[in-house]
Parts: sequence; structure tokens; C-alpha cells
Amino acid sequence: MPSLLVDNIGELVTNEAGRGEGGPLGIRRRVAVLVEDGEVVWIGPTADAPAADHRIDAVGSAVLPGFVDSHAHLVFAGDRAAEFAARMAGEPYTGGGIRTTVGATRAASDGELRATVRRLRAEALRQGTTTIEIKSGYGLTVVDEARSLRIAAEVSAETTFLGAHVVPAEYATRPDDYVSLVCGPMLAAAAPHARWIDVFCERGAFDADHTRAILTCGQAVGLGVRVHANQLGPGPGVQLGVELGAASVDHCTHLTDADVDALASTRVGEEDGGTTTVATLLPGAEFSTRSPYPDARRLLDAGVTVALATDCNPGSSYTSSMPFCIALAVREMGMTPAEALWAATAGGARALRRDDIGVLRPGARADLIILDAPSHLHLAYRPGVPLVRQVLHNGVPR
Ligand code: NIG
Ligand code: FE
Repeated sequence: MPSLLVDNIGELVTNEAGRGEGGPLGIRRRVAVLVEDGEVVWIGPTADAPAADHRIDAVGSAVLPGFVDSHAHLVFAGDRAAEFAARMAGEPYTGGGIRTTVGATRAASDGELRATVRRLRAEALRQGTTTIEIKSGYGLTVVDEARSLRIAAEVSAETTFLGAHVVPAEYATRPDDYVSLVCGPMLAAAAPHARWIDVFCERGAFDADHTRAILTCGQAVGLGVRVHANQLGPGPGVQLGVELGAASVDHCTHLTDADVDALASTRVGEEDGGTTTVATLLPGAEFSTRSPYPDARRLLDAGVTVALATDCNPGSSYTSSMPFCIALAVREMGMTPAEALWAATAGGARALRRDDIGVLRPGARADLIILDAPSHLHLAYRPGVPLVRQVLHNGVPR
């Protein structure tokens, strides 16, 4: 593969703590990045840049690691725009609309689902997302969950089995039977296409016993654990996730001090990717459900590792935009622009237990964003403005 030099970078965010300015962001100035075979192979002063087959002049641009969106639900059919409008007129969000999307998804062809996944994947990439986790969870039959994950796996290695999204209507009176189905034939059909297992642990979805049973079954077949926890009210999800060694507990909108302490206790070091349970915050959901935002400041001050993700789905958060989530996190959740950018890149990588993404150093994947702005600060400072000039994904300009 021909080599590529991204040259004349005024501000390079590396996320290599201590290797530049800006603390965890590791900002370097007046540098160039050499890319070969999909990897970063060299970073150094512009004046020392080696020759390359191709060159991109990034003068005037900040360059960042590609966004890592560690929580998205892209496999679905239809939309719920009317439900959104009703919420903006005062209706609460309960998660009840998930069953509407389940009906539409079951009725859709493979081709329709594939087209939606690819459209949203492309939309996210244009906005700088180079890694995206994709969940099933709108099929809720053995066949529909397996095909959802098969289609998701065509566009991402980070796939998550969410058969326990809600109890589908046909099992409403016998939820224990549904849990048996999820742990038995559904897991067996889903696992070959999934890296992770997730449960919506919430009143009205799955309780602590069901959540524990399902996550443990997933672990037994080699899947990593993530949990939808404490979104609509306080509950057992966060502490259960910590107990089971989850890579991430997601939403974290309603937390007790004990929940925060449990999360903080998992943080063993900045470089650790193996045992930390990340708190993944999803401000698009609070925006779209008109709910109070999670308190990122409280988590950060307690030493919890925080990630930001979109939760892209047709019900609670129909955005694929990481810059939008960064802007919300800064304006509404007490994060500094630097903390929000770190959470949307390195934080997402931690939430997926990956050390090859969310960072720019020799050996990392050449996933990077060239901004139409001189500083990463502009991501929150200029909300709603398409600031992504160019994306490199696996070293390939998009
Ligand atoms: O993460 N909370 C559960 N699942 C999704 C919402 C799904 C939907 O409303 O369709 C979420 O917000
Ligand atoms: Fe979600």
C-alpha cells in the first residue's frame, strides 16, 4: 500500500498522556504523521518529515484520532419521529416504543436492514467516527437477532448481542421463558457474530436476577460484558456491571454515591485496558428524551473513566454525531472540551478494551480526523457546524 504523509499539522491530538501539552490529550504542534499499511508509522516535526507516495497538507487544521462510538443501535427499520414530537409536547420516554421498532425490524428484509446499517455507518464516518459498536436488540427472535448481528458484523468488528433489550410482547406474561430463550438458542445463534453481550437492566426491562443470568451465560461462551444501566432511574445495573467485570456501563444518568465508588474502584491506571469498567455517557438520549443529563463532573472528580457515545437509535437518540455529543457534554455535563474529546476517542477505546484505536502513535491504526478548524476546542465552540474536513480510516482517505 502506498505511504501517505499528513503534513503541516498545527495541532495534533495524540492522546498519549505526557507526550505533549494538554495533559491526557498529548498535544503536539508543527508535526507530520506518516501512514503505511493502515498504521501510523512515524510522528515527528514537519521539518524532519520523510518522503511519501502521497501527501495531505493539513495546514491550518487540527488533527485528532478518529472518534470511537462505543454504543449504537444501527440495525432497525422505520423511525419514531412522531414519538419524538409527542415527547417534545410533554410525553415522557419510557422505552415502550422499543416494541414498535421490533415490529418494523422483524417485517423488514435483510436488504432493507443492510441498507440502513450502511447508510448510518457512512453518515457516522463522514462526521469522524472511525470505530462504531453496533448492537442487535430489535429482532428479539432467534432468527432476527442472528441476522441483525450478521448484518452488523459486515461493517464493524464491535458487535453486541442485545437480545435482552426488552421482553417482546409474545413473552409478556412469561419473562422467565424469554430469559431461557436468550440464554439458550438465541445466544447460540448470536454468539458467532458477536464480541459483546449487553442487557437493558431497568425497571420495565430486565431486573438484577435476569440481567446477571444473561450476562453470565454470555461470558461463558466468551463474550465481553456491557450493560445499559441506570438510565431511567436508580437501579442495580451499574454495580452488577462492576461485579461482572463489564468493560462499560452505559447511560449512568441516575447514580448513587455507592455506584460512583464502585466505578472508581475499577480504575487501576491510565494505561490499563483490561479491568476498568468505563462509564459511557450518552447525552443524545437525554437531549432527545428531554431528561436531565448525567453528571460527568461527579464521575470525573471521583476518578471514574468516562466515555461518550451516541446511542444512535430511532427511539431515544437518533443522532450519529459524536461532535454533537461532545458539544452537549461540554455545555450540559460539566466536561471541559479536552475531557469530552478524550472521552469520545480514548474513552471509547477503553470502553471497547482496545489499545490500537483512540490514540495516535506508531503502531496505532491510522484512523484520524483532519478538522476544518485550528484547534480541537472548536468542536464544542462551534456546535452544529460540519468541521470534519477529511477522515482517514485504516489509512485510507474518505
Ligand atoms: O439505549 N434504553 C434502551 N435502549 C435504547 C433505546 C431504544 C429505543 O427507544 O428504541 C437506549 O436508549
Ligand atoms: Fe442504547
